[in-house]
Amino acid sequence: MTKTVNLTTTGGDYAYPLLEGSVGPDVIDIRKLYGQTGQFTYDPGFTSTASCQSAITYIDGDEGVLLHRGYPIDQLAEQSTFMEVAYLLLHGDLPKQKELDEFTYTISRHTMLHEQLATFYRGFRRDAHPMAIMCGVVGALSAFYHDSTDITDPQQRLVASHRLIAKMPTIAAMAYKYSIGQPFLYPDNSLSYTGNFLRMTFGVPAEPYEVNPIIENAMRRIFILHADHEQNASTSTVRLAGSSGANPFACIAAGIACLWGPAHGGANEAALNMLREIGNVKRIPEYIARAKDKNDPFRLMGFGHRVYKNYDPRAKVMQATAEEVLKELNLSDPVLDVARELEQIALHDDYFVEKKLYPNVDFYSGIILNAIGFPTEMFTALFALARTVGWVAQWNEMISDPEQKIGRPRQLYVGATQREYVPVAARG
Ligand code: CMC
Repeated sequence: MTKTVNLTTTGGDYAYPLLEGSVGPDVIDIRKLYGQTGQFTYDPGFTSTASCQSAITYIDGDEGVLLHRGYPIDQLAEQSTFMEVAYLLLHGDLPKQKELDEFTYTISRHTMLHEQLATFYRGFRRDAHPMAIMCGVVGALSAFYHDSTDITDPQQRLVASHRLIAKMPTIAAMAYKYSIGQPFLYPDNSLSYTGNFLRMTFGVPAEPYEVNPIIENAMRRIFILHADHEQNASTSTVRLAGSSGANPFACIAAGIACLWGPAHGGANEAALNMLREIGNVKRIPEYIARAKDKNDPFRLMGFGHRVYKNYDPRAKVMQATAEEVLKELNLSDPVLDVARELEQIALHDDYFVEKKLYPNVDFYSGIILNAIGFPTEMFTALFALARTVGWVAQWNEMISDPEQKIGRPRQLYVGATQREYVPVAARG
């Protein structure tokens, strides 16, 4: 029997179905609410609202659990490859060897960009933020790949998904090369997804590039940790853009724009800048005090999360990777000392404990990326690169869902009520 939830409003009593997921909170189905009561619900920031049903990623924020298609993130980060995780997110199950080989082959056959796209880069200033370039170039893909923009055709949707996953490393690496004035490098399909990206970023045409397996492994983990995160702001943006029938390249460009913000993907750049600004463990109390001060807009970047009210499981893997990369590269970064100490202090400080503010995925990722040699402006571009897999998986799921409608939130209107237009000369 369907469970229901009773609602008493000024207009009467109503019963709404309670939908049960496979795990996690039940959801009250209020789709008929407005038709029956003439009233809306109010939930800015979607703190209590499920905008869709999804079978891709599950998060238990209180317990610090993150599962992709049922598999724990730490197991995937330790044992899987990025191609395997991409297949898993897109298709629902881990691939058999033959399926993985075919998928890897297909992705590698889409890594090149249309040559005309290289001219787009020259239109940007050399000091353009890579995310500005990513928004522009990814959006422009729709002008080049018309044969994969019919969203009603599942095969075209798959081809567009493959193209986006495959081309994103090329696009990001070209943004970096453009910023430092070096020639673009074409992809090398004999390398792994991450190895190819490292070569296109740090290699030069004049010399052979040897991929460092420790760095390749760190990048593999970083990409897996960023691959998807259920209905976060950028994924919801991709879904909302896609709900109107917009083509996939335009939708992913919209996701990139949303990810750019410092409260979302931009936090990794902001976190490293903050750690550098603190600079010394002695200055930590000053910054903790600022973070707690209601009159100071400063926040500890890389701390807190809308969903996690426990340690972000991705942060644990990230911390271990940071230690590993610095050790292997024989680097000592004072910023890591500041990060370790800041984490310890915040984990025991009443303000952070009461508000359940823990380090998130972005707290340590900047330290690793910096050690590898990426400038801070590239951090969010790398996040976008990895998250593209999640975006296309969620976009495909949405288009395939017969219940999905165009996203059209309503509002609580608090503006002027109807009034008569007054000609400018008559306005007092
Ligand atoms: N430093 C200090 N105080 C904080 C912080 C922080 N980093 N985060 C939240 N708070 C306080 C906030 O002031 C508020 O206090 P009060 O209840 O007294 O008003 C309370 O904690 C709840 O914060 P909120 O802003 O209502 O929570 P939210 O769920 O809307 O925001 C967040 C989540 C991630 C935007 C926020 O924690 C934040 O701005 N963190 C810093 C930026 C960051 O690291 N973002 C990366 C998120 S993970 C990667 C991603 O998703 O892209």
